[in-house]
Amino acid sequence: MLTNETLKVIKERRSIRSYKKEQIKDGELQAVLEAGLYAPNAGGQAWHFTVIQRKEILEKINYLAKENLKSHVVEDLKVLGNDENYNGLYGAPTLIIVSGKKEFVPLEFDCAAATQNMLLAAESIGLGSCWVYFPIFAFDSPQAADLRKELKMPDGYSPYCSLILGYKDISISDMIERKMNLVTFIK
Ligand SMILES: Cc1cc2nc3c(=O)[nH]c(=O)nc-3n(C[C@H](O)[C@H](O)[C@H](O)COP(=O)(O)O)c2cc1C
Repeated sequence: MLTNETLKVIKERRSIRSYKKEQIKDGELQAVLEAGLYAPNAGGQAWHFTVIQRKEILEKINYLAKENLKSHVVEDLKVLGNDENYNGLYGAPTLIIVSGKKEFVPLEFDCAAATQNMLLAAESIGLGSCWVYFPIFAFDSPQAADLRKELKMPDGYSPYCSLILGYKDISISDMIERKMNLVTFIK
């Protein structure tokens, strides 16, 4: 099978759910953010990245998201909301929320492309990462307006995606099997 560094990074990236407490270096953060900004986008970069590294705010987002999940219709999510040991940010020291300007459609895709670019960039420089929808639930809570203000989120932008970053406190060496029979070829 043809391979190179990029293809290796794509295959080796895994969702990391255990992190060291140590904060990532600013240079590493910048490299990841820059990769996000280079993603394809339909809205002419109508996205905004919010980087959160303050512990109290990470804790608040975890708390608000869990409070929201406690009454969720999906049973598994309700269980997570009620699990006092569950931390949906897995102790990662950095959270990036990717928001999109609401009037541009379909900004969810732009935000997803930026998020995936950042995950791959993180893997390429040895950082752990995980795409997490969980924090987005915090923006669907009665305290959402205050939270947006605290995060200086620009008006008119909605949070669509988020990812956590940090140094891995776990090594996942097994490359998971992916289904390869999901492709139809018309040649
Ligand atoms: C849109 C999206 C939302 C996700 N949200 C969460 C989440 O809230 N919490 C979590 O632990 N993982 C989340 N994940 C990670 C997936 O569980 C993970 O990518 C999947 O199990 C495949 O594993 P891998 O990333 O190690 O290849 C999310 C992934 C995507 C694409």
